Amino acid sequence: MQNSKQNFLSTFVSNLIRKKNPDEFLEQSAKGGLKKTLGAFDLIILGISAIIGAGIFVMIGSAVIGTTERVGAGPGLVISIALVTIACIFPALCYTEFASMIPVSGSAYIYTFATMGELPAWMMGWVLMLEYAIGTIAVASSWTGYLIKLFQGFPFLPEWLRYPPEWLINDYQSVVDAGGTVPHILGIPICINLPAMAIITIIALILIKGIQESANFARIMVFVKVTVIAIFILVGAFYVRPENWTPFAPFGIKGILMGAFAIFYAYIGFDAISTAAEETKDPQKNLPIGLIGSLVICSIIYALVTIVLTGMMPMGSIDLKAPIAHAMSFVGQDWFAGAISIGALAGLTSVLLVLQYGTTRILFAMARDGFLPSIMKKVHPKFNTPWVITVLSTILILLGSLFINMQVAAELAIFGTFTSFVIVCTGILILRKTEPDRPRPFKVPCCPWFPIIGIIFCSGLMFVALREVKTSAMLFPLWIVIGLVIYFLYGYQSNRRLLALKMQKLEETEPVKENV
Ligand code: ALA
Repeated sequence: MQNSKQNFLSTFVSNLIRKKNPDEFLEQSAKGGLKKTLGAFDLIILGISAIIGAGIFVMIGSAVIGTTERVGAGPGLVISIALVTIACIFPALCYTEFASMIPVSGSAYIYTFATMGELPAWMMGWVLMLEYAIGTIAVASSWTGYLIKLFQGFPFLPEWLRYPPEWLINDYQSVVDAGGTVPHILGIPICINLPAMAIITIIALILIKGIQESANFARIMVFVKVTVIAIFILVGAFYVRPENWTPFAPFGIKGILMGAFAIFYAYIGFDAISTAAEETKDPQKNLPIGLIGSLVICSIIYALVTIVLTGMMPMGSIDLKAPIAHAMSFVGQDWFAGAISIGALAGLTSVLLVLQYGTTRILFAMARDGFLPSIMKKVHPKFNTPWVITVLSTILILLGSLFINMQVAAELAIFGTFTSFVIVCTGILILRKTEPDRPRPFKVPCCPWFPIIGIIFCSGLMFVALREVKTSAMLFPLWIVIGLVIYFLYGYQSNRRLLALKMQKLEETEPVKENV
């Protein structure tokens, strides 16, 4: 009796940490045989397309001023940006080592499966959904803010389009926080962010049709958003008044750290470059250039935008919904404000493409590994895209957008991303020990120190923030618990069934091989 209990327990635990050999992923991807066409420049474009979006066009406002739950950094946000850049460089190097070693799409989910096992892999995929799926809600809400700002720049448009009722362009919490009211039907408050829901749906349709068209679309978006930001920096610089930079850090170190936490949102997405490893020429050279290059370029852009924005107006006048465009209106440059709204919309759309694409591909990889029902693996017969998972995940995101506030969605995405960075850094340390001889086209320098510094920076910022941001600090552990429950109710059993089926197939084919 004692023995069988022990046996059950040891089988159970070894199932939870069952690893998938990296060679299995490589074999899987070799069958697909993607062409290696991407160079360093292409990767940098991909990075910028994923990175620059709501963070710099919207969240920068609350990173400077703060919210009802946390303080802001003030003009000292530029220090927060330096901190976040350092915090991201170490995980970026770890991503590069993994991506060059296991160059398949699926990113951190795959790396965790290869190093830590089944349960950590599921949890990683689940946490990545915070970054990708919940992150989508934050970006789409920001998209609405800039769309309305753009409409307001055209006086000939009807009043209802320029100043629509708040309950049609916001989430419930934001309307109530701003002192507004919403209509009720049978006692249920009616509040839907209609433009956000529309753009999420349009992008899902584009993704079902195929990613090829979206790649060119993303390139144009990158060009537009970078041009617009450059114009903002150049024109805005003429309106900078140095007295606006004092006090530099009104809330001291705490403000700088909370600003770093908030602006971290602007960095989310660079890990998407690792998903292109399979299609990269000379990955050992081009991947680090792509990852570190896009990080550094975006950091410089962010620092310049912060310096100009905080210099253009007193801190209290910064707008929370469309701070960059509003800054231009503030100095009387309404024409530029309109142009900036177009750039912001382009930027936010390209980020949405990457986030929604990432959501579907990670879920698809998880469905293939037996974590989700097999119907989700269905590929469209004509477009060859995972349409079932795209439709289902879009419905869930749309439902989520009805309940989750933009600020909370962004914070949850930040917690999810920090967690994935910590796990990827840890994975590097583990794989260096367990498989020291595996060929590594790129190696993180100064290992184990660089991954350890990455872990300390990211978990440090996360713990500081957990004590301040009440709502998301409560929802984040809840998300983890829900993930565990789903795994034990479904994923664990389903994986056992899938493995048993594989074994059976193998046994059936073995004798045939012997005959041959
Ligand atoms: N970094 C992305 C953005 O700022 C997620 O929108």
